[in-house]
Amino acid sequence: MSKTYHIVTFGCQMNERDSETLAGMLEDMGYEYCPEFRDADVCVLNTCSVREHADKRFFGVLGQLKNPHEQFPGRITCVCGCMMQQQVHIDTLKAKYPWVDLVFGTHNIADFPKLFANVASERRKIVDVWKDAGPIAEGLPAKREYPFKAYVSIMQGCNNFCTYCIVPYTRGRERNRAPEQVLSEIRQLAASGTKEIMLLGQNVNSYAGVAGDDSGLQDLRAEFGLEPGARVTFPQLLRMIDRIEGIERVRFMTSHPKDLSDDLVQCFADLKHLCKQIHLPVQAGSDRVLKAMNRHYDSAHYLELIDKLRAACPDIAISTDMIVGFPGETEEDFMSTIELVRKVRYDSAFTFIYSVRKGTPAEKMTDQVPEEVKHQRFDRLLDVIHEIQEEKAAADQDAVLPVLVEGFSKTDPDVLTGRTESNKTVDLTVSPQAMDAYGIKCPEDLIGRIIPVKIVKAQTFSLYGEAV
Ligand code: SAH
Ligand code: SF4
Ligand code: F3S
Repeated sequence: MSKTYHIVTFGCQMNERDSETLAGMLEDMGYEYCPEFRDADVCVLNTCSVREHADKRFFGVLGQLKNPHEQFPGRITCVCGCMMQQQVHIDTLKAKYPWVDLVFGTHNIADFPKLFANVASERRKIVDVWKDAGPIAEGLPAKREYPFKAYVSIMQGCNNFCTYCIVPYTRGRERNRAPEQVLSEIRQLAASGTKEIMLLGQNVNSYAGVAGDDSGLQDLRAEFGLEPGARVTFPQLLRMIDRIEGIERVRFMTSHPKDLSDDLVQCFADLKHLCKQIHLPVQAGSDRVLKAMNRHYDSAHYLELIDKLRAACPDIAISTDMIVGFPGETEEDFMSTIELVRKVRYDSAFTFIYSVRKGTPAEKMTDQVPEEVKHQRFDRLLDVIHEIQEEKAAADQDAVLPVLVEGFSKTDPDVLTGRTESNKTVDLTVSPQAMDAYGIKCPEDLIGRIIPVKIVKAQTFSLYGEAV
């Protein structure tokens, strides 16, 4: 019987994408996926450090691995990801979690097979974390979660140093993948049946990949004026991706408002496959707080971007990230955030309570907001967001929307689930007549296809529909 692995992933899509690489590597080494982390011969924990909550969840899971480790001394526990780029966490692992066998960081994922082989064959412990990033490794394996939709990383790292954020310290400076690497990956995905791609980067708007001199871009070279060595902007990259046969949906995240160009806005009007959806984190509505956060835009500029996006693409769905309780946030500052939310009317929003991150400039700010004030503002903000979402959801009632069918609903195995162009989840049923019309024998045959769905019940957080 072959040995098994499980990967627990915390954090953002970058980490999810890295875990796909790690899974691909483990499968290449002969390991099979095990659905339960406590039962796997190899358990990898890919950590996130963006908020204290993420740190805590990791230690909770790691604690649960102690007993199985004692029962099966042959198990191998590996820890990687953003927390491991901080020495304090490595020290804690060494002191309190002796069952951890391998620690590596975000910059040396490509070395995982080599490190793992050493740990497995010699049964010794290894800690190997690089302080700095090298060039992006290409050609690594990946075990993707879905055959029909895929993450494609276009850049790594972040140069923005928002004062609250740990990411620039855990992921290093911005590095761009060469455009031909991105395009050839997407072409390969398309050839194997992928319909939707999500381009990933901490700030995709500052993408500036340098065209190589190999043959990967030949067909696009004349049209886009791409001489070897030319810099490709994000909108140019999107225009090239839009041509790739078979890719029906393109999304990206995350966009930083300070770098959102008119050219990118124009893409929403021009490109056939670009989903009418953008995630544009605002973080706060108060100009004073935005300045203290080092975001390099003010609320007027942000609202202007929203107007431009809606002018180019009237039904674009807009989502955001927001932080409440940043150091020094007053009631008045907070009310500016509420005001901005009411002006933008987001389709969805991820809201966070400010969490102090060691080593960031905001940690040293003296006027930290008391916990109960942060929580109270958080609840008030959510109320406003939900009120708007509820009003907006009603607009989907009776609409017929294209849905990429992804699988069966987790709560009801008789119901399919999929996503709209705006990235909302829809649970849907398929009538016998619809099955006849599609020439299929069971609803399952629709998985991986984009089909029209009539919305019969539109609720704030969920849509229910029927295949038509
Ligand atoms: N690069 C992306 C975001 C990456 S982190 C961007 O700039 O938009 C995802 C979100 O986590 C951020 O948008 C922010 O809202 C939130 N976040 C980051 N650091 C945080 C902290 N210290 N406390 C609370 N929320 C934080
Ligand atoms: Fe963090 Fe700001 Fe970089 Fe986003 S842009 S990852 S919030 S530092
Ligand atoms: Fe977390 Fe690292 Fe992403 S800190 S949010 S996993 S880049």
